Amino acid sequence: MIFSVTSKRLISYDSSSSDGKLWKQFDAFTRGLIAFPIYVPGTAFYKCMQGRKNVMKILTKMLDERKRASRQDSVDFLDLLLDDLKKEKLLRNEKIALDLLFLLLFAGFETTSSGITAALKFLTDDPKALQELIVIHEALRLSNIAPVMFRKATEDVHINGYTIPKGSKIMIDPSSVHLDSTVYKDPIVFNPWRWKGTVEPVGGASKEFMAFGGEVRLCVGADFAKLQMAIFLHCLVTKYRDLSCNLQQHRRRITKV
Ligand code: HEM
Repeated sequence: MIFSVTSKRLISYDSSSSDGKLWKQFDAFTRGLIAFPIYVPGTAFYKCMQGRKNVMKILTKMLDERKRASRQDSVDFLDLLLDDLKKEKLLRNEKIALDLLFLLLFAGFETTSSGITAALKFLTDDPKALQELIVIHEALRLSNIAPVMFRKATEDVHINGYTIPKGSKIMIDPSSVHLDSTVYKDPIVFNPWRWKGTVEPVGGASKEFMAFGGEVRLCVGADFAKLQMAIFLHCLVTKYRDLSCNLQQHRRRITKV
């Protein structure tokens, strides 16, 4: 569902009339993204690389077709990219434009759908939270959907008696903060009420909450993702209450078995 929404806005992709090929290739890419990098047919990493190659082929074909066809009815992100490519002053070329499309399609779908999945899991376990529906930050804190971020030290950094030399590559692990008991009381407990009365951090992130990164690389889709998640959860509780009850009954039955 999330892929349909995002891909429609970006490339006018109609997932209801498609054969699901684009999504399947993205799925293959995602599954092997953090796999051991052995590039041999059959491995998760190989399928990941093939997935990326196939998505790029589909996007390139789409871009070529779009260049030939003139579209008046509606404007999507691909049209804007094509307009940009015509401007000579810009450094962007077709390869960069296609990479950007790939990135946005990936970043706009894998993250939000994982966020919704995590929220659903925690809500099914906690009917009280389901009634109040104040879950999004807590689900993201516990699930750490973006498990690592990378930075490069542009100068020597002195911290707690250590020096990180200029040029070092740093891997930031947000879960070490999100699951730190000195920052969050009972950090592995799902407790959305811990956010009640707190103020949204200025700029969308803080040293205590970095599910969407922070500073200059704060997630560009953070508000869009939270909006999609909120709409999804709203529809779920207003239209599918029976389904959520059934889910719980179903889980209880499974547990008994
Ligand atoms: C629950 C949903 C999401 C989570 C948890 C998430 C998480 C993140 C994080 C942690 C970063 C920073 C990476 C870094 O600092 O190296 C990031 C960056 C980014 N995200 Fe998201 N994201 C989400 C949804 C989205 C959506 C919906 C889009 C686009 C439609 C998006 C597009 C991007 C882009 C383009 C960047 C790079 C920003 C830059 O480098 O300036 N993300 N995201």
